[in-house]
Amino acid sequence: MERRDFIRFCAASAFAAPALAADAQPRFYARAKLVDPEGEPLHADAIPANRNLIFHYPFAATPCFLLNLGRPAKSSALLKTAANERYEWHGGVGPARAVVAYSAICAHKMSYPTKDISFISFRAEKSARNKFGSVIHCCSEHSQYDPAEGAKVLAGPAPQPLAAILLEHDPATDEIEAVGTLGGEMFNEFFGKFAFRLALEHGGRAQAAVSGSCVVQSLDNYCRQQVKC
Ligand code: FES
Repeated sequence: MERRDFIRFCAASAFAAPALAADAQPRFYARAKLVDPEGEPLHADAIPANRNLIFHYPFAATPCFLLNLGRPAKSSALLKTAANERYEWHGGVGPARAVVAYSAICAHKMSYPTKDISFISFRAEKSARNKFGSVIHCCSEHSQYDPAEGAKVLAGPAPQPLAAILLEHDPATDEIEAVGTLGGEMFNEFFGKFAFRLALEHGGRAQAAVSGSCVVQSLDNYCRQQVKC
């Protein structure tokens, strides 16, 4: 079965079973091919391992992390949103199933990477404040998420996983497209809370839908100061 078909099959079958509570449905947005800063398609096997890469999807101002974990992600994870909606995440993409993507908006108080500063990023190494390696860590109040398991919450006050970005990988070209989200989106709250700042950063285009392509770049290039903790 083609990977693309497999994702659709999984998305459908995951919600076919009788549910005790409402299920969180995948939300499909306009397709966007992941490209490098020169506009060339990004290839899964060329994504460096354990590096913070950032892109914006499904809206011009909503940041996401793209990560090559350097090892296969778990093939599935059963997760819940803060509203107690269940969903099943179906692992990474690419030849090694190691490429994953998540909203970079912290599920606690929505700290997110701006061009000036970022309190949230992937950390390969443990630290004094981080007993886990290979986590997405928000230094605001130390929420930590496991990117190899659907960004489930490992520690801290976050009430739900980071929303997953649904990726489709084409084995023939090794290219990747973002197609939607799965889990607890916080985009409405995000646009409400940061309306003034987002207007300064993006003009009137903060809520513009991304389609066609979206540029992936290193967080080091995108952000002037990364807070590590
Ligand atoms: S905003 Fe991320 S832990 Fe509070």
